[in-house]
Amino acid sequence: MVQFVSVLTTLLVAAGVALAKPTPKLAEQPVVTYLGTQGPILSGGAWTSKGIVYTSGTVPSVNGTIVAGGIEAQTAQVIKNIAATLEEAGTSWDYVMKTTVFLANMSDYAAMNEVYGAMLPTPKPARTAVEVGKLPGDFLIEVEAIAAIPDI
Ligand SMILES: *[C@@H]1O[C@H](CO)[C@@H](O)[C@H](O)[C@H]1NC(C)=O
Ligand SMILES: *[C@@H]1O[C@H](CO)[C@@H](O)[C@H](O)[C@H]1NC(C)=O
Repeated sequence: MVQFVSVLTTLLVAAGVALAKPTPKLAEQPVVTYLGTQGPILSGGAWTSKGIVYTSGTVPSVNGTIVAGGIEAQTAQVIKNIAATLEEAGTSWDYVMKTTVFLANMSDYAAMNEVYGAMLPTPKPARTAVEVGKLPGDFLIEVEAIAAIPDI
C-alpha cells in the first residue's frame, strides 16, 4: 500500500511537471503559425513572436469632429485613424490579419469597398462587414482591426 501511494505520487508529480512546462517543440513555434489566406503577410521576412494588437472600434473623426464628405471620406479617415493606432503599437496595415467593418447602411458597402480596396495593402486582411442599427455619433462607418506586431 505504501509502495502504491508512492508510485501514484510520483506519477502525479510527473504529470504536474508535464502540464506546467510546454514541450520544447511547442515553445519554439511562433505565436502565429497559421493565418489562412493571410500567410503571405507573415512569410515576407516578418516574425511575429512579439504579439498581436487589437484596436478598438475606430470612427471617422478628426480632432473630435466627424469628417465631412460621406462614406468615401469616412472610410478613408477610419483607415488613417487606425493606421495611427497601429503605428503607435509598432505595426501597420501591412500586418493586419482581420478587420470588422460596421456600416450604418449596407447600401454604402460598394463605396466603402472601393476606398478600402484602394487604400489597404494586398493581400487584404480577412474581413467581416455587417450593417448595424446605429453607430455612436451618427457615423456611417466604424472599423476594428487585429494586427500582428513584427519584430523588424
Ligand atoms: C487637428 O488638430 C491639430 C492640432 O491642433 C491641427 O494641427 C490640425 O490641423 C487639426 N486637423 C484638422 C483636420 O482640423
Ligand atoms: C440606406 O441608403 C439607401 C441608399 O442611399 C437609402 O435609400 C436608405 O434610405 C438608407 N437607409 C437608411 C436606414 O438610412
